[in-house]
Amino acid sequence: MRHLIAGNWKMNESPRQARALARQILDLLPEQPGADVLLLPPYPALGPVHSVLAEDGRVALGAQNCHWEDAGAFTGEVSAPMLSDWCQYILVGHSERRHLFGETDEQVRAKLEAVLRSGMRAVLALGETREERDAGKTEEVLTRQCCSGMMGLGRDRILRCTVAYEPVWAIGSGAAAEPSDIADAAAILRSVIEEAASGAASEVRILYGGSVTARTAPVLLGAEGVSGALVGGASLNAAEFCGIVAAAPAHA
Ligand code: PGA
Repeated sequence: MRHLIAGNWKMNESPRQARALARQILDLLPEQPGADVLLLPPYPALGPVHSVLAEDGRVALGAQNCHWEDAGAFTGEVSAPMLSDWCQYILVGHSERRHLFGETDEQVRAKLEAVLRSGMRAVLALGETREERDAGKTEEVLTRQCCSGMMGLGRDRILRCTVAYEPVWAIGSGAAAEPSDIADAAAILRSVIEEAASGAASEVRILYGGSVTARTAPVLLGAEGVSGALVGGASLNAAEFCGIVAAAPAHA
């Protein structure tokens, strides 16, 4: 499966800064990158970044979040159909959404369905906290989050999903998970996906996220069962991010 390297810019970069960063990334990317590349700028930067990426064609665009309803009285929210003119992907269930904004598994599922309903691809992020890991609950948590996102979706919709395993304790910490732990998590997630749609496990990408840098990417992207990375901090530096793209194995 071809790798996917996604850059989650979080709440960083004004529209003008975002356009410049997108241009720098295009300048540093090889003419034919060995992996698919996705950028996830904040909402106000989506239009400007779209105009930079669309004329180039090497990099896909996505949003970091959306509401689960298509329209209505939800002041301050943004719906999936509003994003579908510009975006090919929407990220749902990022740990900052779950933990800082109290999103539940049910809300994440509803958002994921909204993304797919609007014809886009979804990146479902999930992962255990340090306390859950220390209590031996990693498998239980990953299974619950993945089942909640995937069960009953049906094969066609599952094939438009990517799962991003992001252990909460590794995000922004400078200390990534061990490749063996990532491989264990990927195996758990693949078995849930297989149960949700037989034969789908080998066709759904599982990304790893949490303190991926150009230096650590070769080892992390080589973890068994992993087909890409969701990159936070390091995606704000064009050279660093393109170094991660370059580290992706051409076929995995
Ligand atoms: P990080 O963030 O690469 O800065 O650890 C990853 C993420 O939150 O997606």
